[in-house]
Amino acid sequence: MASIIRGLKGRDFLTLLDFTPVEFKALLERSREHKWGLAKNAALRGKYVAGIFEKPSTRTRVSMSVATFDLGGVFLELPTSSLQVSRGETLRDTAQVLSRFVNAIAARVKSHSTLEELARWATVPIINMLSDKFHPLQALTDIFTIIEFFGNRKVKIVFLGDGAANTNHSLMIASALAGYDYVVGAPQDYWPDDEVVSKVEEIYAQTGGSLKIVEDPVKAVSNADVVYTDTWFSMGVSDIERRKEVFPRYQVNKDLLSHAAHHVKVMHCQPWFIGQEITEEVAYGPHSIAFEQAENRLHTAKAVLEALLI
Ligand code: CP
Ligand code: NVA
Repeated sequence: MASIIRGLKGRDFLTLLDFTPVEFKALLERSREHKWGLAKNAALRGKYVAGIFEKPSTRTRVSMSVATFDLGGVFLELPTSSLQVSRGETLRDTAQVLSRFVNAIAARVKSHSTLEELARWATVPIINMLSDKFHPLQALTDIFTIIEFFGNRKVKIVFLGDGAANTNHSLMIASALAGYDYVVGAPQDYWPDDEVVSKVEEIYAQTGGSLKIVEDPVKAVSNADVVYTDTWFSMGVSDIERRKEVFPRYQVNKDLLSHAAHHVKVMHCQPWFIGQEITEEVAYGPHSIAFEQAENRLHTAKAVLEALLI
């Protein structure tokens, strides 16, 4: 059988930086086919996916496992506490052994370097289900959701809060691949990683979008089509007191949203912490598309699994 998306079979999915705008677009298109029932098949029959979890997960865990089962495959839930890595077995051996049993290893990890080490030794694709640095499955879904609401027009996305968070890094990249305008509104100590920014700027130079990073949340949201936020306390962060001081002015609330376009859509990867980065009124209000976003994780997961495995 011909591969679903040319050139993706056998590849790792660690960061969207590894994909071209054309490949990214093909993943979006395949996700759409899954959502609209145009891709009914049992593409993953006889395929096994190991799902390693070093951190909690609801959406990623369930969307990846339901996607695998729906396509005829089997998803094995492997919390790290139940694996021999918890007793000191190396990632090298874990990757090599799992590669003998399964067709892909998906992992949610504390450190991105864990994924790189798994990828170094595995002979099957490694899929990033969230690391401290990137969350590519989420960002693919986010752009898919934006296209559902805005069609193919160029939009302005504003990310508010922790600019160094995995979600912002991945969404900046995804937005660059899509050729959008992107603004990060964040306190200077929490601006995105310089290396990611310079790679993203290279992509923007090809696709024609733009990236700005500012401190002022009101300036940031001016005329935004999409306002996106995420928790100020990502899993694993330690500087809690500092964060409590600097982030409150970035809360997505009705006042701040009054500076955005009247048709603004509010997005959040969830889980959200109501009353911190977003108010209840906005999270459950008419501008929020967070639950559509969550649902779409299923359709994009299917596209990614198929593209890498068959
Ligand atoms: N958005 C997201 O990745 O959610 P989970 O942590 O529930 O998987
Ligand atoms: N930035 C958040 C995303 C959770 C899905 C975290 O890493 O905790």
